[in-house]
Amino acid sequence: MRILVTGGAGFIGSHLTEALLPAHEVHVLDNLSTGRKENIPSAVPLHQIDLQDEAAVRRLFSSEKYDIIFHLAAQVDVRTSVESPVSDAKVNILGLLHLLESAKQQHPWIIFASTGGAIYGESPLLPLSETHPTLPESPYGIAKLAGELYIRHFGNTHHFPFTILRLANVYGPRQNPFGEAGVVAIFTHRLLSGQPVRIYGDGEQTRDFIFVEDVVRACLAVIEKPTRTQGQTFNVGTGQQTSVNALYRILETITGLSYPPQHLPPKPGELRHNALDGARLHEATGWAPLVPLQEGLKRTASAFAKAFHST
Ligand SMILES: NC(=O)c1ccc[n+]([C@@H]2O[C@H](COP(=O)([O-])OP(=O)(O)OC[C@H]3O[C@@H](n4cnc5c(N)ncnc54)[C@H](O)[C@@H]3O)[C@@H](O)[C@H]2O)c1
Repeated sequence: MRILVTGGAGFIGSHLTEALLPAHEVHVLDNLSTGRKENIPSAVPLHQIDLQDEAAVRRLFSSEKYDIIFHLAAQVDVRTSVESPVSDAKVNILGLLHLLESAKQQHPWIIFASTGGAIYGESPLLPLSETHPTLPESPYGIAKLAGELYIRHFGNTHHFPFTILRLANVYGPRQNPFGEAGVVAIFTHRLLSGQPVRIYGDGEQTRDFIFVEDVVRACLAVIEKPTRTQGQTFNVGTGQQTSVNALYRILETITGLSYPPQHLPPKPGELRHNALDGARLHEATGWAPLVPLQEGLKRTASAFAKAFHST
């Protein structure tokens, strides 16, 4: 199949692009704002386009046709979205609309990387299933929920299939350690470069950390079972909660490096606890996360150390 991965030069998108080869013909759309050209296999065409540029997105779809679009390109930082909701919405809502308007005549299958970490709001009922009420607390989560609803509307109105994937906290090699998102990447990079990590709040907030390879396997499982996955919304998580403090202690042990963390005030718009129930995706496709946290963190730290020492 011909597949477009938007955000394919980024962290998750580049792992997905690699995994789709050689079974599929893959193109990447990315503006390289946080993604890197070196992340994309050389045989994969890169359309360097900003989704905010409607004319450029339309031009792409006037010359290329795709069976599937994995839509991962996004402003991914919750804290940035709180500080600048307009710039978040320009990419995460208007950018998505440019894509949907331009692609709708082709009736592609749109598979959307939504969030399970920022869409449900606070709840004591963990792990959360997809039927849990949505109540996003940040502009990032609000935009992702709007994105889900727009995709559903366009899919139903223009007769194309869609699947929504609500991802937990994804970590792994190539995650950007220089933004505010991606605590594993930030902590690992700071440990390797001899800087103390910053923990916002008391560090007892919990997250559902899932290795990128398990997320990519979920994406592949979805396209293998279209009759069971089209029109559906799925959590992609492990169901396990790990506190930020516990995560930091595991990384200290794995890297053999240790610095007292700096505790800073909690950031607005961030949840206290989160974990996602992946049973629905398991029932539909047989998918289950396979990489335990310790192993995933070891593989991530070793990839970061290799990259760190080669620069
Ligand atoms: N990493 C996580 O824990 C996580 C969790 C839930 C959902 N997601 C979603 O998964 C997707 C991928 O996230 P990631 O962690 O790989 O982040 P990332 O920043 O590595 O990837 C995003 C990619 O989108 C590109 N991009 C950003 N704005 C663009 C624009 N205006 N036009 C074209 N390209 C643009 C960036 O250059 C980058 O390559 C995002 O949609 C994100 O919201 C990620």
